[in-house]
Amino acid sequence: MLAAEAGKEYWWCACGRSRSQPLCDGSHRGTGLTPVPLKLEQDGEVWLCGCKQTQNKPFCDGSHNRL
Ligand code: FES
Repeated sequence: MLAAEAGKEYWWCACGRSRSQPLCDGSHRGTGLTPVPLKLEQDGEVWLCGCKQTQNKPFCDGSHNRL
């Protein structure tokens, strides 16, 4: 869960290599994968995908239950 601030841009890690999960730390270089931007209009808590299998990036869609 991420407590996100309104108007702030976050970058969700799509590659799984980041040491700052679930956010990108630049470790995707050379993988061919790129992070997914996220910006909320209101402060809020969001559940971001940790398993990287979601079909609704960057949000959790329950795919981790099927691994
Ligand atoms: S570190 Fe994973 S997308 Fe940037």
